[in-house]
Amino acid sequence: MNKLKEITKGKAKSMFTTDNGEHLVMHFSDDTSAFDGKKKEALLGKGAVNNQFNAFIMEHLENNGIETHMVEIIDSTDSLVYKLEMFPIECVIRNRATGSICKRLGTEDGLVLEKPLFEFFLKNDELGDPLINDEHIISFGWAKNDHIIKMKEITYKVNEILSKLFIESGLILVDFKVEFGLYKNKILLADEFTPDGCRLWDSKTLKKMDKDRFRQGLGGVVESYHQVADRLGMKIET
Ligand code: ADP
Ligand code: TMP
Repeated sequence: MNKLKEITKGKAKSMFTTDNGEHLVMHFSDDTSAFDGKKKEALLGKGAVNNQFNAFIMEHLENNGIETHMVEIIDSTDSLVYKLEMFPIECVIRNRATGSICKRLGTEDGLVLEKPLFEFFLKNDELGDPLINDEHIISFGWAKNDHIIKMKEITYKVNEILSKLFIESGLILVDFKVEFGLYKNKILLADEFTPDGCRLWDSKTLKKMDKDRFRQGLGGVVESYHQVADRLGMKIET
């Protein structure tokens, strides 16, 4: 497999074509972004830990019946994935209220929700990824109703599987974001699942172990990601 041409350079990853038209190489860089690109910094070693973290989580999800875009991990910072037609949508589940929902609704930070809450956001940095609902998605043609139903169903399942995995390692999965795409009309979980796109709190101390350390300038970002990986039993190559 040869990495041919960089086709997209996002805020944290680049996608490359390969000599096999079905696949892309997903390269995790050290670039770190928050607040829709308003805060940026390169954090040494973040790309490597995130690529290997993502491969571990995607494999765990596959083993628990979730179909993903992962083909295989290639090296410390790169993975091979199926090339998908992505939905321009982010699927978020919250088990506790924190972050944008507290600003939006004025609710107590850390409140345990009666039921996991699903939300859709439009992927649009200029607009600050606005909250949208099923009606917006259908009216603007961003996805069809059966895809919406499937994305919600899979995201709830991911929440069940990963909440269990993390709590066994002493971590609370507070919330997370996932993305989906279509491969030959089939919905696959895509993009990444890493501490960049979720909130993980130590279950005893409630210490933040995720990208909120970067957003809030708490320091020790990559160190924290390694600690989470260690707790899950991952062996990270640096
Ligand atoms: P952003 O676009 O938010 O800056 P990244 O830096 O993480 O994010 O870039 C990765 C991009 O690749 C995202 O736009 C994501 O939607 C897209 N992507 C993820 N997985 C796939 C895939 N399997 N096929 C095509 N595009 C993908
Ligand atoms: P929020 O509180 O900012 O809405 O974020 C909810 C969760 O989704 C949190 O774990 C961070 C993640 N997320 C991203 O990774 N990227 C995004 O663009 C958004 C809106 C959220």
